[in-house]
Amino acid sequence: AAPVRYEAERAPATCDGAIESEHAGYSGTGFCNGRNAVGAAARFTVDAPQAGTATLSVRFANGTAAARPADITVNGSAVASASFETTGVWDGWTTKTLTVPVRQGGNTVRLSPTGTGGLPNIDHLDA
Ligand code: GCU
Repeated sequence: AAPVRYEAERAPATCDGAIESEHAGYSGTGFCNGRNAVGAAARFTVDAPQAGTATLSVRFANGTAAARPADITVNGSAVASASFETTGVWDGWTTKTLTVPVRQGGNTVRLSPTGTGGLPNIDHLDA
C-alpha cells in the first residue's frame, strides 16, 4: 500500500518542544523543534494494517555539526537507533529509513534523543 504521511506538527503526533516553520522545505505546516535535552521526544501513532515489520521514513534536518542520535521505540520497546547526522543547514532536509516491528492497529513510535542536543528538527514520518 502507499505510505501514509504522519506530520510531526499535527495531532495525534506530539512534540516535546515547539512547532516551528522558520526553516523552509518542510511538508505540511511546520516541524517539531524538540527541546535540546535527553529524552525530549517526538511521538507518532502509526497505523499498521497487519502485524509484522514496517518501514518508517523519518524526514529531518540537523543544522549543527554534530549528530543528534536517538532511540526508536515502538509501543515502549527500544527497537532501533538512528544517528540523525548533520545535514549542514537547518533547511537541508533528508530522510532516514528504519525497519521496525509493529502490531496490527495503532503503534506508538517515539524518537527519543540520547544526547543533550535533543532531536534534529523532525518534519514527518512516512509509514
Ligand atoms: C536553532 C534552529 C532550530 C533548531 C535549534 C536546535 O535554534 O533555528 O530550528 O531546532 O537550533 O539546535 O535544536
